[in-house]
Parts: sequence; C-alpha cells; structure tokens
Amino acid sequence: MTARGLLFVFILVFFASCSNKTFINQEGNEQKIHQLISQMTLDEKIGQVQQVTDGFFGNEEETKQAIRDGKVGSFLNITGPERIAELQRVALEESKHGIPLLFGRDVIHGYRTIFPIPLGMASSWEPDLLEKAMRVSAVEASSMGINWTFAPMMDVTWDPRWGRIAESCGEDPYLASQMAVAMVKGFQGDLNDPTSVAACAKHFVGYGMSEAGRDYNTTYIPETLLRNVHLRPFEAAKNAGVLTFMSAFNDLNGVPTSGNEFTLKHILRDEWKYNGMVVSDWGSIGEMINHGFAANRKDAAEIAVKAGVDMEMATTCYTDNLKSLLEEGRISEELINEHVANILRVKMEMGLFEKPYNQMVSTDTILSASHLELSRETARKSMVLLKNTNKTLPLSKNIRSLALIGPLADAARDQLGTWIFDGNEDDSTTPKQAIGSILGTRMNYVAGLEYSRDKSTKGFEKAVSAAKKSDAILFFAGEEAILSGEANARGIIDLPGIQTELITELKKTGKPLILVVMAGRPLAIGAEMEMADAVLYAWHPGTMAGPAVCDLLFGDFSPSGKLPVTFVKGAGQIPFYYYRKNTGRPATSEDVVSIDDIPRNSKQLSLGFKSMHIDYGITPLLPFGYGLGYTEFSYDNLALSSSEISQDETLTVSARIKNTGNYTAGEIVQFYIRDKVGSITRPIKELKGFQKIELNPGDTKTVSFELKASDLQFFNGRDYLVEPGDFDVWIGPNSEEGLKGAFVLK
Ligand code: BGC
Repeated sequence: MTARGLLFVFILVFFASCSNKTFINQEGNEQKIHQLISQMTLDEKIGQVQQVTDGFFGNEEETKQAIRDGKVGSFLNITGPERIAELQRVALEESKHGIPLLFGRDVIHGYRTIFPIPLGMASSWEPDLLEKAMRVSAVEASSMGINWTFAPMMDVTWDPRWGRIAESCGEDPYLASQMAVAMVKGFQGDLNDPTSVAACAKHFVGYGMSEAGRDYNTTYIPETLLRNVHLRPFEAAKNAGVLTFMSAFNDLNGVPTSGNEFTLKHILRDEWKYNGMVVSDWGSIGEMINHGFAANRKDAAEIAVKAGVDMEMATTCYTDNLKSLLEEGRISEELINEHVANILRVKMEMGLFEKPYNQMVSTDTILSASHLELSRETARKSMVLLKNTNKTLPLSKNIRSLALIGPLADAARDQLGTWIFDGNEDDSTTPKQAIGSILGTRMNYVAGLEYSRDKSTKGFEKAVSAAKKSDAILFFAGEEAILSGEANARGIIDLPGIQTELITELKKTGKPLILVVMAGRPLAIGAEMEMADAVLYAWHPGTMAGPAVCDLLFGDFSPSGKLPVTFVKGAGQIPFYYYRKNTGRPATSEDVVSIDDIPRNSKQLSLGFKSMHIDYGITPLLPFGYGLGYTEFSYDNLALSSSEISQDETLTVSARIKNTGNYTAGEIVQFYIRDKVGSITRPIKELKGFQKIELNPGDTKTVSFELKASDLQFFNGRDYLVEPGDFDVWIGPNSEEGLKGAFVLK
C-alpha cells in the first residue's frame, strides 16, 4: 500500500470512531427523518436544499463555517479526498444536527480510467459491460471522496446535431433503458459497499428533443411520445433503484422541466411513487426567467419548489427566497419539509449517517491494470465496422509498411471524448503509440493536418507521399472532443475541416484505404465511406483507444459493435429513426425519384406523391442496429411457439444463427415487432429484445426471445393498454434485415 493509501485507512478509522454521534439506524428511517426535521430551524432546512460549487462561501474557513451553520446540503466539484473528508467531518462533528453532505461530480464515462463515450458504450449492446465499467468508475470516484455522480444521462435523441448525443445511449428507448439500468447498478452497486456512488437519472425529461439539436432549446413532445419513448429509460432507472433525478433545462410543451408539475409531481411522484430526491440542473431554476415562465428569481423558486425540485444546483433562488415565500404564505413549511425529507432519505439510504467516510477506502485502484483492461475491452466492443470490401481488414501484423495519417491518430486528449473532468490525457495510449509498438519502423506516420478542423493543405504532400510508399493507408478521421458534448451543437454534421479533401487525395494513390472515425456523434460520412475500402467507427474510445483499435485492426478480435443510432446521409434527413411511422404515403425503393433524373422541363406536378426526399431517397446512410464483423452470420429457422397468443400467454420466437465465415466473432441478434393497427398509429418497428452471442466458425446457435402481452403495451393518449390484433416479428442482424413472422394477440 502506498503512503497515500495508508493515510486513507487512517482517515477512515479515525472518522469512523468519531461518527457515533450521528449514528442513525437504517430501520425506522422515516421516523428519524421526521424527528430530525422537527429539530431543524427553517434556515437549516433551507440549507439542506442548497447545492453549491467549490468556493461559493469564500475561503476554506468560511466554507467550514457555512457547513457548521447548516447552510448547505451538498457540494459539487470539490476535489481532493483529504479535503472532502475534512469538510464531511465538520458537517458531522461541528454542525448542530450532524447531517452528512453529498459530494457530487460528473463522472460520466469514467473517473480517471476513461471508457468510451456513452454512445460508444451503447454500441456494445452489452449492459453487463456497462455495469462493470460504471462500477470501476464508482470505485475510482469514491476513493476520491465523491459519493454522488450526475449520471447516467438517459435522454433519448434522434438528433446527431445535438452535441449531447455523445452522452446518450442513442435513439431507442428499449436499448437506452437497458443501458440506463446497467449504469445505475454499476454506479450504486450495493449501497452498503464503501464504493457505492449515488447515481442520477438525468435530464428529466425530453431534453434530447431540443429543436434543431441546438442545446437548451425548446422541446415539443406530445404525451404519447413522451410516455412511449422519453419517459421509459427514466422509469426503468427508477425501478432499478436510482437514488436521485435531475430536472432538465428544456421547456417541455411550454412548461420548463425544472418547474413542471406534470412530469415532476404527477408522473414521478404520484404515478411512479418515487421517494428519492430531485436536483435541478445547473441554474435551471433561475433560467425559468429567460424562458419567460417566471418574472423573477422569487417566482422561479416558488414554481420549482411547488413543482417538486428538492435541491437547487449552483444558484441560490431557493436560499434567497424560500423564507420570504413562506412568510408571505405563498408556500408552506410542510412543502419545505417534504423536500428536506427527500434529501435526508437519500443520505440515509446511502448509509452516510453511519459511514460518512466509507467512500475513501483507497486510491490504489485508480488506473489499475484491471481497470485499463476493462476500458480496452469496452472500447473494442464499442467500435462498429461499417464497411470492409475485399476483406481489407484485418491487417496483417506482418504488413510491409503502413501509412498512418490523420491528427486524431495521436490525439491523447480528444480520444477521451466529452465530459471528462478527471480524465488525464497523459494516461492515454493513442493509436499511433499502439500501432507503432506493433509495427515499429514499418509504420509511417504523417498527420497531414494539424487538427480535425485544420484548413491548411500544407501537410497533404507529405501524407500522399507516405501513402504512395506504403502497402495500405490508415486514416484517422473524425472530430475533436470539443465538437460534441454540452452546448456543442453542430448544424453541419460532416467531417470538419478539409479531411475529405485529404482522403480524396489519398484515394488517388490507389492503395487500400482504411478509415477509422473518432467522433462524438454519428457523422454524415457517405462520401468518405464510398472512397474507403474499410471503415471502422470508433467513437471517442477513451484511455485505451490505441490498444483497443489495434485489437480489431490486426484481427486479434472481430469487431462486434452495432449502431445504437441511425446514420443519416446529411443533416437535412434529420430526424430519421428506425421506429418512425409508416405515413399514409409510404414510398418503396421503386418510388424513389432522384433529383438528377427529373427532366429539365418536366411538366409533372409531382414525383409520385410519396413520402420521400428527392435527393436523399428513403433510406438512411446506415440503419439502427447495423454493424459488420470479420465473419458472416446466416439467420434461418424462424419459429414462433404459436401463431396466436392470449393476453396471459408468452410467445417464444427463435431463430438459428450460424457463423458461416472463418472468424470467431460476436453477433448482436435483434428482435423487433410491429403492431400493425392501433388506436393510435404505431411505429414500423420496435426493438423488444437483443442478445449478444459468440460463435466459432461453422457453429450454430438457436436464439430465443420471449414476448409477453405486457411487452406490447403503449400509451394511446388516454391509457396504457395492450390491444389485440395482428403483429409482425423479426429476428435479424439490424433494424432493416431479418427473418419475418407474424402472430395474433387475442
Ligand atoms: C449539465 C449537467 C451536469 C451539470 C453539473 C450541467 O450543465 O447539464 O448534465 O450534471 O452541469 O456539472
């Protein structure tokens, strides 16, 4: 154990022995909460509902005094385990009621060991892997004193312009729900475990529908869509025991989500019976003034506190106004008590009253070999092979010479992706380093451009000449980390800068051209895909980008990721998601007319009166669920346990999958349904299950999915119901292909 590790054990033992004063038994929590609240002054209660950032109260002594005076319930972004321990000690030992503090931080896709961005992790379609990755993140974060993370983000989005798509699990509510639950389990683990970190279901709700993908923008989501899509991951997370929720920034149908009684009260509390705490997003209470929903900060506080936001993050509308709102009779003390109770309940459930320092066990595990290995595995499983003509990939490790081009091949910071507060670029192994360690001098690296948005062609010549001398070209394309994430919306979702021009020049050499794309969103890379012989979409893979990409490029493993989001041909096609509606005029591929084929003086009124784009057609660049490997899988023998089921029966649908190629590989088998007629129109496909299998060459496996009538439930504007009728089912490799069957629900 290091000296630092020993110090933590000492802190742990010392503080554990001091904390008896505040010992509160798990049993009878409600009674204890009640008792505690009855002893608290109004100011102390208002302190509990306040979360502030580091430095808010001034210097360290002023901060401690504020804690002693009960002016704060939680801090965010305080770092340093010794410091956190000391502030927690002050809360327990020197404040009147000894209420522990929550120390929050955005631990989104890793603490120091950075995993792929969530959209990348979702491409693994392996919830267990995400659970493990977030467990590791919690172990590392808790060792630094953090006991609350603002993750996972479970906003469903259809919009690659939105920078926060990087933090999402994509477009599908079923996949996003599975991943949200896994991540919550990973962060929280066993609440009695010293490494448990409270998770936060964010951003409640609808934020992923920000108009035009512009961050913080207005959202309009009809209740049917809200319930059938956007609320689902949140409800799943609630059922999985997520301890906290975060209200969002967006205006939802005219009512900002941080002042929205319908979502925060009616749905979250009354329908779902959630009794944890809701924190606002950063400043989102005061922003209701900008929304035009509150006249001033006092009104904003009144609206939020009545709607159900328990704790205010970063700003002080509550602290500054709750007392006068009470004096003026605009709110009651019971209402404040309710919010305080929700916060205390979370602190108790986490065991902070008994074990306030238990998080700080040992920092020895940070960046441990097993953590890095898990990061590498997760990154490898997150990458999606989009194209591989003539088996260009995998490359032989004996290749005579490889031209490695593109600044992203050696961008230690960018490969970590967005939202990494504690990730350190010095911990990264870049693709250039990893490939170099395999090929040595047979790798010829020329960046070609200085960074992804560089517009200077001065490096082109050297890059092309390196390409000419090599047996193959490996170009790392994409966007830097700063181009995705919060506030980083793009209207144009092509490769930035002049990367395409460089790819065009490289293509002219006639050498096999492999693209690895590192990005925080699905980019519109149709033209580049056309030029390339092989394309591997790596997202922002995290600390272990280099070794993970080598695992695939050199064939130690077959790529197995599949897209959790539709890839569009261009921004004009947005939104394009697989569970869209059929419309009254669906077009088939025969209907599609290209803008180039329309005669110059066409007298036609229209081109077939069908729902299509005359430039994009009717298909996306790549469908949801798509991904290739180094082998092929065949699907046959679709079987349904019955062609008819009643409401209390379960249908089993199975298919046989065979690895018909030469590689051992994983395959994500997907199960979709279509409800053919409904009391409201139903999507053309809905994902209802998936399984990842691994098969050796020549092996087969029968994969089965069970479907209960309740899985077919949807909200039709009035009720949740299961409607009898005809259904289609598919088992397939993606949302567009598969074996099709049908059944009737009686
Ligand atoms: C983001 C949240 C985040 C919070 C605290 C906000 O700007 O929207 O997702 O948790 O900041 O850092």
